[in-house]
Amino acid sequence: MCGIFGVTGDSRTTELLIKGLKRMEYRGYDSSGICLVNGKRLIRKRAVGPLSNLEPLVEDLPNSECGIAHTRWATHGAPTKENAHPHFSKDSKIAVVHNGIIENEVELRKKIKLLDDGIAFESETDSELIAHLLLIEFENSEIDIKNAKEEEILSCWKLVLDKLEGSFALAVVINGRNDFILFARKFAPLIISHDGERGILASDVSCVVGLTEEVFYLNEGDWGILTNSEVQIFNVDGEFVEAEAKKLEWKLGEAELGGYPTFMLKEIYEQPRVVRDCLRGRLSRDKIKGFSIPFNPRLLRIVGCGTAYNAGLLARYYIEQLSKIPVILDHAHEFRYGAPSGPKSLVIGISQSGETADTLAAIEAAQERGYPTLGIVNVESSTIARNVDSLLGIRAGPEIGVASTKAFTGQVLGGLLVAMKLGQLSKTFHREDLSYFDRHARMLPTSMERMLNDQNIKTKLWEAQQYFIDKNHAFFLGRNTSYPIALEGALKLKEISYIHAEGYAGGELKHGPLALVEEGTPIIVIASEGSSHKKLLGNAREVAARGAKVIFITHQEDDLADSHADLVIKVPRTHDLLQPLLYNIICQLLSLNIAEERGCNVDRPRNLAKSVTVE
Ligand code: M6R
Repeated sequence: MCGIFGVTGDSRTTELLIKGLKRMEYRGYDSSGICLVNGKRLIRKRAVGPLSNLEPLVEDLPNSECGIAHTRWATHGAPTKENAHPHFSKDSKIAVVHNGIIENEVELRKKIKLLDDGIAFESETDSELIAHLLLIEFENSEIDIKNAKEEEILSCWKLVLDKLEGSFALAVVINGRNDFILFARKFAPLIISHDGERGILASDVSCVVGLTEEVFYLNEGDWGILTNSEVQIFNVDGEFVEAEAKKLEWKLGEAELGGYPTFMLKEIYEQPRVVRDCLRGRLSRDKIKGFSIPFNPRLLRIVGCGTAYNAGLLARYYIEQLSKIPVILDHAHEFRYGAPSGPKSLVIGISQSGETADTLAAIEAAQERGYPTLGIVNVESSTIARNVDSLLGIRAGPEIGVASTKAFTGQVLGGLLVAMKLGQLSKTFHREDLSYFDRHARMLPTSMERMLNDQNIKTKLWEAQQYFIDKNHAFFLGRNTSYPIALEGALKLKEISYIHAEGYAGGELKHGPLALVEEGTPIIVIASEGSSHKKLLGNAREVAARGAKVIFITHQEDDLADSHADLVIKVPRTHDLLQPLLYNIICQLLSLNIAEERGCNVDRPRNLAKSVTVE
């Protein structure tokens, strides 16, 4: 999604803005731009495509102490230079960058035209109107912008914000005023930092890592002014907010490649560490601890999107199996507009970023209905993490690759911890069950490391990759706890390699998808536990009989798969509940290898953004 970065009070503004934009590249974008406040005018440079197209345009810009920058992910209008941010008001007096969607755009555009028919819109965006509205407010108040007092500027800014419906993170600079940036947030992330001399604002914590140690997290509806000497924050009612700066949760090195060729590969290899960190202080032989479940539920609802949804599906299997409490799983975007009935339930929101607009809205919808909420979230400073009643941070560290990998492992472990805790409360998951699980969980990181460095597995992955040459369709099959892995495997393959892939529960095969299987179709079958494993072997036979190439992912103690597949990839044996995590890593590596073979950028797949902060 769009990214915002702003600096005031530093003579290296251009350099810092470009640095900020580079840090936001991973979020996904199609154009970028900056605007500097310089003496008599605002200097704006914009370019379509990668940041390398913008960089030469800013090389010789004059010094400035104040500026804003933006990476755009097109929603209103094509990715063109005209639609790229920053957007100007009439006479280039005001520049704005915006992330979000202004829902009353049509109405406001008409209003602006009525108020001043000399205004010509230069872009198709909903964002441009914010610059025009602010200029109109200044003109109506008859204030001289260049000499206006902060209070005067702020009261005009508030009048504009009151007119906007929808979601926004905003930063605004004004011609002749290199001493401040105006800002606001509503349903879109924005953070602020100030060290007494330099103020920075950004839509993403990872952009300011290394530039500052503490940040102010804005609440919904907060707005204000970032000057060269301080930050003033007000709430939606216009009251001054006594905000407290919080220490950044991440260090610089964590958000860098550290010798790996891609973030995706780095993050796949970080999974043993994620397991250790996520379980630390929470799992012992006789107790699940370190987080609270805010309510003893008779029904659970889980919400999430994409990979987080797939992790939620696995959590559903775990919770139902270990605690016997029924679970309803919804895509967050479906939940938010639905009208859940039934008993008051605990709503669990799963999200890596903690800023996904639909998941955030689903949590808010749940809270409005009076349901207690629990977040399984990676970014602990995020809006979802701050809004839920109880938080289980997965401690995966910054995930930069657009394709979620290590976060899935953390989310699944989070779901598993909740399942075991509920199982203990329901007395359906016993002390000896936990102690047995604990023994295996302690060995899991080592098993993962062994697997990630296993030469035999690397060779098998290369062989499996050959089945995908010139193929445009693939299927992933699983059953029970391997079904979510089939969904996640297919999601990973399609998003980074652009091969059309579908995940199915094996039992669903004969109900339609089998019609698509033909000579050479690659089918990845992911082993499951217990009686459903034999059923999957049957599915493998069915697709093989139609000419499919079957790749079976299973564990080392499984002798049955060998005679049911063209290729079998075996991973170390672990506890049944943890086994899917090892299978998933194989799917991640397979997708990565296939995507790279096809020349795709695995960290920044086309059309996608890291965190989907608009609906
Ligand atoms: O930050 P979140 O976990 O809430 O993000 C949810 C999805 O947008 C995300 O998992 C997406 O599906 C990934 N690109 C999948 O790899």
